[in-house]
Amino acid sequence: MTKLMIPGPTEVSPAVLEQLAKPIRHHYGPDFVALYFEVVEKLKTVFQTRADLFILAATSSAAMEIALSHAAQPGEKVLICRNGFFGERFTEMANYHELSVITVDSPYGQPVDPAAVKALLDKHPDIKAVALVHNESSTAVETGLKPILDLTRARGILSVVDAVSSLGGADVPTDGLGIDFCVSGSQKCLAAPAGLSFVSVSESAWQAIARRAKPVRSWYLNLENLRAYREKWQNWHPQGPNTAPVSLYLALNQALDELLAEGLPARFARQIRVRDAFRASMRAMGLGLFTDDSCASKTLTAVRMPAGIDGSVLLDRVLRRHDILLAGGIGPLASQLIRVGHMAWTASEDYLLPTIQALETELLAMGAAIQPGGADIFRAAFHI
Ligand SMILES: Cc1ncc(COP(=O)(O)O)c(C=O)c1O
Repeated sequence: MTKLMIPGPTEVSPAVLEQLAKPIRHHYGPDFVALYFEVVEKLKTVFQTRADLFILAATSSAAMEIALSHAAQPGEKVLICRNGFFGERFTEMANYHELSVITVDSPYGQPVDPAAVKALLDKHPDIKAVALVHNESSTAVETGLKPILDLTRARGILSVVDAVSSLGGADVPTDGLGIDFCVSGSQKCLAAPAGLSFVSVSESAWQAIARRAKPVRSWYLNLENLRAYREKWQNWHPQGPNTAPVSLYLALNQALDELLAEGLPARFARQIRVRDAFRASMRAMGLGLFTDDSCASKTLTAVRMPAGIDGSVLLDRVLRRHDILLAGGIGPLASQLIRVGHMAWTASEDYLLPTIQALETELLAMGAAIQPGGADIFRAAFHI
């Protein structure tokens, strides 16, 4: 079976898979109500929030959109921080919702610059919300949240944080940082199947929603509508006016149990150990890393291709000969980079040693001037 070493969807545990093999259950009544609130509570622990939290039967892009569309009204200014593909996605969404977009752009491979954010907030005091991506999966860059969230909080500006590829794998203290809308999804560091996404909504965010001149123009992706249905149907059908994908809830519940049994601090520490060991192994092989240590993602790594090596050819060889799926670069970086996901279940020797070995074998076969022995370096660094 192909090993998924991409930045999501990621491999899940056998116990999570077992949940998916259970008979189909219905999405209302006491059993589902209990499951729903159990999952919400566990998610709140992972989000480190006591704020409101919604589960959407949709992928993380829907959660990004519901957050952004509730953070400002049409015509109002939003500042979108862009340092890769998913920050750019926020701009597309803001345009659909007729928000007035100001962007702060950092080059691919760099984190968002808080000084540039501050300069724009000073210049445009009427900005209502700031959106940013915590862990830019397109470039494997993590942006430090605190300096930017300190700015938004001090000015009473709402914040929207895409923690899609970091939540559960890196520390995202939603309440501690004052994130108004924190967004994530099931298929990455939570190690559950794709199909569910989540958004936390702070009290300040609800107050801003209540002040809107007009409600958000959506019925399905509408937080007030979801909240109203949850209140009305809380003892029967609390997820909102739709059929909850119960099999996905069961799988997510199991994945959350595994995460909470390991413990958030232990999981975050394992992610860092794996990240550092993987980076050390790539460097020892003579491969360049796209991101600096200071902003390196904990959940995926982007590796530069040596001279004369086309990343897409390498990926194809690794897939065909080793049955391991890796990701390429996105957009302008397509063939210059490969991206390796190491999230939750795959943040382990069982998955990374074969990946390193496959890369080494195929790079040598393609004539790249690399040093063998990356797997030994990984093992040694992982066990320090
Ligand atoms: C950082 C980030 N944001 C948003 C998304 C979009 O998620 P989805 O494809 O689940 O809608 C992804 C998916 O890769 C992502 O990595």
